[in-house]
Amino acid sequence: MTGFQLCCAVTICCIFGIAAQPGDPGSSNISEPFLLVADRNGEIILQVNITSGSNTTLPLGDVGEPRALDHDPLTDYVYWSDNQNQKIHRARRDGSGRETILDISYVNGLALDHARGDIYWTNSSELTISVAKMDGSSTRTLLTLSAVSRPYDLVLDPRNGLMYWADDGNETIARAAMDGSNPTAIITGVSDPRAVTIDYREDRLYYSDRYRVYSSDLLGNDIQQLLYESGTGVRGIAVDENYVYWSSRYRRDSSKPWQGKVGMLSKSDLTKTVLVEGLASPFDIRLSTAAPPAIRCPLGYFRCGHGHACTLTWRRCDGRTDCSDGSDEDGCECLPIPVDFNLGGRLTMLPNQLGQTTFEEIRNSSAVDLLIGSPTNGQNRHPEFREFASTVIFPQCAVPKENDTTCSLSRHADNATSCMNKPLLPCRSWCEEVLNTADTRMKKRFPTCD
Ligand SMILES: *[C@@H]1O[C@H](CO)[C@@H](O)[C@H](O)[C@H]1NC(C)=O
Ligand SMILES: *[C@@H]1O[C@H](CO)[C@@H](O)[C@H](O)[C@H]1NC(C)=O
Ligand SMILES: *[C@@H]1O[C@H](CO)[C@@H](O)[C@H](O)[C@H]1NC(C)=O
Ligand SMILES: *[C@@H]1O[C@H](CO)[C@@H](O)[C@H](O)[C@H]1NC(C)=O
Ligand SMILES: *[C@@H]1O[C@H](CO)[C@@H](O)[C@H](O)[C@H]1NC(C)=O
Ligand SMILES: *[C@@H]1O[C@H](CO)[C@@H](O)[C@H](O)[C@H]1NC(C)=O
Ligand SMILES: *[C@@H]1O[C@H](CO)[C@@H](O)[C@H](O)[C@H]1NC(C)=O
Ligand SMILES: *[C@@H]1O[C@H](CO)[C@@H](O)[C@H](O)[C@H]1NC(C)=O
Repeated sequence: MTGFQLCCAVTICCIFGIAAQPGDPGSSNISEPFLLVADRNGEIILQVNITSGSNTTLPLGDVGEPRALDHDPLTDYVYWSDNQNQKIHRARRDGSGRETILDISYVNGLALDHARGDIYWTNSSELTISVAKMDGSSTRTLLTLSAVSRPYDLVLDPRNGLMYWADDGNETIARAAMDGSNPTAIITGVSDPRAVTIDYREDRLYYSDRYRVYSSDLLGNDIQQLLYESGTGVRGIAVDENYVYWSSRYRRDSSKPWQGKVGMLSKSDLTKTVLVEGLASPFDIRLSTAAPPAIRCPLGYFRCGHGHACTLTWRRCDGRTDCSDGSDEDGCECLPIPVDFNLGGRLTMLPNQLGQTTFEEIRNSSAVDLLIGSPTNGQNRHPEFREFASTVIFPQCAVPKENDTTCSLSRHADNATSCMNKPLLPCRSWCEEVLNTADTRMKKRFPTCD
């Protein structure tokens, strides 16, 4: 009794981790950049056209007092912290799919990791930085008091595995690895640090120091002052190629209400333009296009064509669009595995679970070692290790038996339509069983089973 079977050989009965469902992705086309603004005292989230300055209030229902926000280009969800009800909510820009994902007080900074589908936030009442899956599950606290003091805005650099935050208690801009290790202050003596963001093209940080905006390189060197707004506290910063956008607020005295605006500063000549006026108390701002360019997706994820998001590979070619540009449903063609791989002429679909896109790339890579019959140095291997590896490297195609011959013959995209189909992935239990007997080094070569 081995306790497992290749149940997926018959039908799609089980696939890697069906857990985190972000819901039906929005059908909206995110091709034109826009700016999102959390107006806390106005109790609205605005979408601003950065060309014309025109605005619309997003129909997200009662948003409470929105303070920090981010946007997921994969699903078109807006995530925001509501300091009135002490929660983090999400909803698509059209208002659909609204739900509360976390119950947390005073979140002054949040950021999405588009590569891994995680949300990071700062808890300013407990003074921590934490992470969870985007649906609010699997929360973990990464940094606590001593490493952080009073964290505000937070920005991620998944390309380098780093996060940066504005720390008001320590008056610093600090950074740590995205798993919370090695926290370090990189800029000290910053008064009222509130906002921090990254220009991924220039590899520079932009951060606020009370009434000012500065930029520096990613190590905190080469600091330059860009903006001074007398008496008006900077609360949010966003950048694109040509402009720095900022939100700021002021009041004449404590008996008067706050007033605020969003401005844009030309990077080339530092001229200031007001983009949106008459806001009540704007805090976080986010530019839809500012996701890290060409992010690298972890093992087991497919990178969308626009390069700003990753989706689980098992969602590729599943008949539902996950990437906003539809690229996860493009080129879903079953191809015969070249004979030299010795896998008996079955069909597969590329890219595979390791992100390899051509047979040549696979042939040239160390992945072929996984397909050899017996381990070289007497390692313990699950008896079905090779079979398992072959389904990771060459995902099975769910083509019915009667079409198998036609598909095997057609190597050309123009007549492969009868071979368009879903990839079949191994059972989770099978994956777990096979990988449990593998050593750590070997495990790292495969995507995780969930
Ligand atoms: C999205 O916009 C792009 C570029 O403007 C266009 O080519 C594409 O057809 C649009 N897609 C949808 C679904 O509207
Ligand atoms: C933004 O404004 C520009 C200039 O007025 C206009 O051409 C464009 O269509 C607007 N975009 C949207 C999404 O409304
Ligand atoms: C948003 O646009 C409306 C017109 O659509 C305008 O009346 C309002 O003043 C604008 N709000 C802000 C904060 O600019
Ligand atoms: C945030 O801090 C509050 C204490 O102020 C605590 O009750 C809550 O559990 C914290 N939340 C998380 C997710 O860390
Ligand atoms: C923040 O300040 C605390 C003491 O207030 C210190 O222990 C800690 O090392 C500082 N953290 C960073 C990242 O500088
Ligand atoms: C594979 O290796 C061959 C020979 O070393 C080389 O010519 C070819 O460019 C490589 N292909 C890829 C996709 O790396
Ligand atoms: C597919 O197309 C190629 C050339 O375009 C042709 O040689 C081949 O016979 C076709 N196969 C089938 C099954 O139609
Ligand atoms: C199988 O082949 C038949 C005839 O070519 C075609 O009508 C049918 O759509 C194919 N089925 C699949 C799942 O490709």
